[in-house]
Amino acid sequence: MQLTTYIFATFAIVSAALAVPVDNLVERDTKYCGYQPYEPSKYTCYDGLLCPIQNYVVYKRCGGDCYDPAKYVCHGTKMCPTTDPNLCGDACYNSSRYKCEYGRLVQV
Ligand SMILES: *[C@@H]1O[C@H](CO)[C@@H](O)[C@H](O)[C@H]1NC(C)=O
Repeated sequence: MQLTTYIFATFAIVSAALAVPVDNLVERDTKYCGYQPYEPSKYTCYDGLLCPIQNYVVYKRCGGDCYDPAKYVCHGTKMCPTTDPNLCGDACYNSSRYKCEYGRLVQV
């Protein structure tokens, strides 16, 4: 009788310990990005690609990369810095200094 009680008590303690991590996962609201678990407060899932949220900056996706939209502009899969936001062929340029003619940069 005493042994049965002891075993039951042990089982109760073990299951309580196992239940804690599960509760934490539910509380933190873990989601999946493809097969990757992630925390929505720390990442954004862009069709299978995780981009971080850091210092209140929500990084966006550009092709296979993540970028800070305050610093870059995305042209499909190519990024340009916001100071040279336009794309001419493979080159980024600032329209106050260049113009794009037939895919080539020409100084203004
Ligand atoms: C182009 O360059 C000038 C001078 O560097 C800068 O003041 C301006 O903001 C730039 N233009 C854009 C669209 O960022």
